[in-house]
Amino acid sequence: MQQPVLVVDFGAQYAQLIARRVREAQVYSEIVPSDMPVSEMLAKNPAAVILSGGPASVYAEGAPQVDEALYTSGVPILGICYGFQSMARALGGTVARTGTSEYGGTELTVRADSTLLAGLPERQSVWMSHGDSVTEAPEGFTVVAATEGAPVAAFENLEARLAGVQYHPEAAHTPHGQAVIRHFLHDIAGIAPSWTNTQIIDEQVAAIRAQVGDRRVLCALSGGVDSSVAAALVHRAVGDQLTCVFVDHGLLREGEAEQVEKDYAQLTGIDVRAVDASDRFLTALEGVSDPEEKRKIIGREFIRTFEAAARDIAAEKDIEFLVQGTLYPDVVESGGGGTASIKSHHNVGGLPEDLRFDLVEPLRNLFKDEVRAIGVELGLPEAMVWRHPFPGPGLGIRIVGEVTRERLDLLRSADAIARAELTAAGLDRSVWQFPVVLLADVRSVGVQGDGRTYGHPVVLRPVTSEDAMTADWSRLPYELLAKISTRITNEVPEINRVVLDVTSKPPGTIEWE
Ligand code: XMP
Repeated sequence: MQQPVLVVDFGAQYAQLIARRVREAQVYSEIVPSDMPVSEMLAKNPAAVILSGGPASVYAEGAPQVDEALYTSGVPILGICYGFQSMARALGGTVARTGTSEYGGTELTVRADSTLLAGLPERQSVWMSHGDSVTEAPEGFTVVAATEGAPVAAFENLEARLAGVQYHPEAAHTPHGQAVIRHFLHDIAGIAPSWTNTQIIDEQVAAIRAQVGDRRVLCALSGGVDSSVAAALVHRAVGDQLTCVFVDHGLLREGEAEQVEKDYAQLTGIDVRAVDASDRFLTALEGVSDPEEKRKIIGREFIRTFEAAARDIAAEKDIEFLVQGTLYPDVVESGGGGTASIKSHHNVGGLPEDLRFDLVEPLRNLFKDEVRAIGVELGLPEAMVWRHPFPGPGLGIRIVGEVTRERLDLLRSADAIARAELTAAGLDRSVWQFPVVLLADVRSVGVQGDGRTYGHPVVLRPVTSEDAMTADWSRLPYELLAKISTRITNEVPEINRVVLDVTSKPPGTIEWE
């Protein structure tokens, strides 16, 4: 494993973003809590430390601090915002409430020749969010930039390999922010950019081989990015020792089952056992309209189906491991450290005692963008690697009302048109998700040809989002919306109205159920 750059989390939402930016600079990073003892941090043999921003004032009682021993440990350190002030204060500088708070885009003036800001424009916009300011830099530090409200907006001490910025270089609103992170990592801390896709794959493959040896592994493929890439990595590591189960619950979108069963299996050479369980799911869903009830039924049927398939395979082969597509944000959010609990939406959490497996989690150090990049590197099709998130219960929670085969067919046709047009417009990557929802119990009057119609509406729900926690409705071009609407109402006769959902999250959720 590579020496990590530790991102010390002072409690803001920025630590994950900083960790990702470090990875973008091709350096491995890990997030640690600010109350981790310095001895523990140093035991991780860090290549550098980055102190994140945080909501507290360094003068507030109980404000989080790292032990000052960190600053004299010889490890290169970059302080950001609160981390910058914390560092300045610990090393004998002054932090004060200057009376000028700065929030949002702020003009920065680069003052001196510097390594941290080398080659960057003398005047540039940076993203600020602070009340306190560093008014005097500690001894040995050169002040390299200022803003109107922050006389010391960036400093560095090249000999000690310490530097800091008041602003947020990790924020997308700081256009030259990534250069600051690169300069710190590569030029001040002297870390070589070696965290590359091939490196990640090599390390994970070695780790999987060490864990699994010559034993057998099972994986539940959903067709989503995480399980597809996780399985491909495990296959690269242990080949035929891996068997995948793909449960087709009949609630997938057009072409998705084939994509997993045929294209993916053929391309990767993975042993994929597809189970067509659509009858079973649809029978269980008969007469059910309540969304939570639907989720429960789909979850329960999924476990039963997967369990039966797992038993069959385990009878043939002695299976000891189960692949999980757990990502690094899940690990961080569940408190880091130990093994993350099985994600409930993976739907294999409730396996019975005699089907206990050890987990193989080849993505648990990775962010989603890294998973996509190694997916491409492993040769998976773009359409799969860039697939939008899709809920486990599938179209079952995109039909408002009872789920039937006929309604699924209608929705599948409308959804396929919306997806095809979005792709044709080259806008796939500009939306986070694009649910199409069938209001199956609603009818409205329309007119088509010479006749009156009495059909169902579908709702287009394209959203932009960073992480699905919050979202905004996508401002798709009118021409695209018009084309989707015309095609759906022309090609799917039972649908006579297409409406657009213009609600953000909150208050709406992304899905309608
Ligand atoms: P909401 O609708 O809560 O969705 O804004 C947030 C994200 O979660 C997905 N989602 C689900 N995923 N099982 C899943 O695996 C579910 O029951 C489920 N419900 C919502 C949704 O597609 C969005 O990405």
